[in-house]
Amino acid sequence: MKPEQSSGQDDRLWGGRFSEPTDAFVQSFTASVGFDRRLYRYDIQGSIAHARMLCHVGVLSDAECAAIVGGLEEIQKDVESGRLAWSVALEDVHMNIESRLTERIGEVGKKLHTGRSRNDQVATDLRLYLRAEIDAVMARLEALLGVLLDLAEREADTIMPGYTHLQAAQPVTLGHHLLAWFEMFFRDRGRFFDCRRRVNVLPLGAAALAGTSFPIDRVFTARELGFEAIAENSLDAVSDRDFAIELCACAALVLTHLSRSSEELVLWSSPQFDFIELGDAFCTGSSIMPQKKNPDVPELVRGKSGRVYGHLMALLTLMKGQPLAYNRDNQEDKEPLFDTVDTVEDCLRAYIEMLPSMTVKRERLREAARRGMTTATDLADYLVRKGMAFRDAHAIVGRAVRHAFDAGRDLCDLTLAELRSHSPAIDQDVYAVLTLEGSVAARDHFGGTAPAQVRAAVERGRQRLAALSRP
Ligand code: ARG
Repeated sequence: MKPEQSSGQDDRLWGGRFSEPTDAFVQSFTASVGFDRRLYRYDIQGSIAHARMLCHVGVLSDAECAAIVGGLEEIQKDVESGRLAWSVALEDVHMNIESRLTERIGEVGKKLHTGRSRNDQVATDLRLYLRAEIDAVMARLEALLGVLLDLAEREADTIMPGYTHLQAAQPVTLGHHLLAWFEMFFRDRGRFFDCRRRVNVLPLGAAALAGTSFPIDRVFTARELGFEAIAENSLDAVSDRDFAIELCACAALVLTHLSRSSEELVLWSSPQFDFIELGDAFCTGSSIMPQKKNPDVPELVRGKSGRVYGHLMALLTLMKGQPLAYNRDNQEDKEPLFDTVDTVEDCLRAYIEMLPSMTVKRERLREAARRGMTTATDLADYLVRKGMAFRDAHAIVGRAVRHAFDAGRDLCDLTLAELRSHSPAIDQDVYAVLTLEGSVAARDHFGGTAPAQVRAAVERGRQRLAALSRP
C-alpha cells in the first residue's frame, strides 16, 4: 500500500502514541461516519446521561456538566439543521460529536470521555437506536393486524377454495384465510416484544472491556436512559451483538410471512385465479404490453425478503470468529442492521396501505371453490355419520367424484339417484352438507372456518390486540 499521507494537523483523538499520519486509504477504509452518523441522536442521548452520571458521582462539577450537556444539545441542533460538517478524518459518529463539542465549549469538552470508551459507547448507541426502531416496527405490525381484522370481518362469509399442494382442497372463508395471516404477524409482534427486553440493557460502564477505575453509578445511567437492566459483565457488554442478530431474525420471519402473503396476492391477482384486484396505486403497467397491470408491490416485498435473510447471515458470520472482547469487526454490524430495519418498516407500510385497496371478486372465489369438488370430504363425513367406516366412505366418495368428473358436473349437481348408485346410505339430507355454505358452516368449532367462528375469532383478535402489553 502506498504510504499516502492524510492532510494537515493531527486531529485524531487517539493520535498521541503515533508518529506518522494514517495512510489516506486506511483512513477511509476504517471510517464509519458515512453510515453511523445515523446514530447521532442516540450518541448524544448516551453522552448526556454519562455526563450527568459523572456529575452525580462528583467526577464532573455542576458547571462542567451543564456546559457539556448544553454543548451536546446545541450539536444536536447543528446536525438536524445540516450545519455539522461530518469529517472522515474523525472516523466515526462518536469522535465527530466529541471533537465538535470541544470546539464549541472548549477544554471542558475533553472531560466527557472520562470513564468511558467508544466500545461501550457504540454498544449503548446501538441499543438505544434498536429499542426505538423495535417500537416503530411493533406499531406497524399492530396497524397491520388491525387492517387484517377489519378485512377478515368483512369477508367472514366469503367462500373460497382452501388449498393444500396448491390444489383446491376444501372450502374455507376468506375471512378465515386472512386470520391465518393475522396469527403469523401476531407472533411476529410478540417476537419483537421479547427481543426488546434483551436489547434494553445498559452496556455503558464497561468502558473498553474491563470497567473503569472511576466511581461510576450505572444504576443512575440506566435510569437516565430508560434501560431496564444493566449488563452484568463488562467483557460481554462490549462484545455482545446477539441482540442485533436476534432482531434480524425477528425481521427475517416478518419478511417470510410478508413474502408468503405476497405470493398469494400475486397468484390471486393473476388472470388465471382472478380472485382479487389490487388498487391501481399499488400496481404498475408494462411499457410494452398495454393490457398489463402488474402486482409490483407484493412482488417487491417478496423479493426484499432476500436482503433481510442476507443481513441475518452476515451478522451471524460477523460474530462467529470473534474472541472476547470488542473487535473492530463489529463496525460491520451497522449497515446490515440499518437496512434490515428500513426494509421491514417499508414492507409493513406497503402492506398497511395496500391491503385496504384490494377488491375481492367474491363470485370468482365461490366459483373456484365449487369447481374443485371441494365438498368431497363432507360427503365422506356424512357417510361416517350414517354408520360407515371412514376408509369405506373415502372409497365410495372417490367413485362418486369420478362419476361427477366424467359427467362434467359438480358433486352437488348429481341427482339423489345418481348419488345413491354409489351408496344406498345417501338420502335427501346430503345436499345440506354438499353445498359450500353447508360445508363451511359445519366447521363450527374454535379455530374452524365457519363464518360464526371467523366473527368470534375477529372479536378475540381485537381483544388480544387491545390487551397487548406495550413498552
Ligand atoms: N466505529 C466503531 C464501531 O462501530 C466504534 C468503536 C471503535 N472502537 C475502537 N476501539 N476502535 O464499532
